[in-house]
Amino acid sequence: SENNVQAKLVLLGDMGTGKTSLVLRFVKGQFHDHQESTIGAAFFSQTLSLNEGTVKFDIWDTAGQERYHSLAPMYYRGAAAAVVVYDISSMESFVRAKKWVEELHLQGNPAMVMVLAGNKADLEPKRRVDTEEGKLYAEDNGLLFLETSAKTAQNVNELFYEIGKRLARA
Ligand code: GTP
Repeated sequence: SENNVQAKLVLLGDMGTGKTSLVLRFVKGQFHDHQESTIGAAFFSQTLSLNEGTVKFDIWDTAGQERYHSLAPMYYRGAAAAVVVYDISSMESFVRAKKWVEELHLQGNPAMVMVLAGNKADLEPKRRVDTEEGKLYAEDNGLLFLETSAKTAQNVNELFYEIGKRLARA
């Protein structure tokens, strides 16, 4: 296809929700039980081939620790897509995710493709955020919604493909 796009993608969300793990699952097919907390931000690159064309993602995996919050605008500025991640076993992380969505709506690129990802979907027995709650919030705020697991790979490729499809079409 002639339609080749390069897109900046940023991951935001509370510490420990699995941002790095989602990226490592997508880019390297790996998962680590003891993934280290990100300092500042980490950069990854991955190209997806779709029917619509190819999408080269420049991925900024930001650090969730509060002390890095002020750096976030550097990473979401100019981003074509944002993935806001929470952990389905933590209501606090869902509250934090909603704050990120508000910040992106106020300060982010209005055309940005935004996805809400309820990660750690494998932790069903520890669930604190109902699927319906995440889904409704996403619908009301114009985000795509997926529950994912970096551990089992559930919906991880789907997450990036859905974004890629929307960017390749645009
Ligand atoms: P910060 O860099 O501190 O912002 O964290 P992060 O959001 O990048 O989270 P990270 O990927 O470092 O994962 C935190 C912990 O959760 C690690 O111990 C991971 O192994 C674990 N983890 C990540 N994703 C999943 C998942 O889908 N399921 C389960 N059960 N554990 C996960």
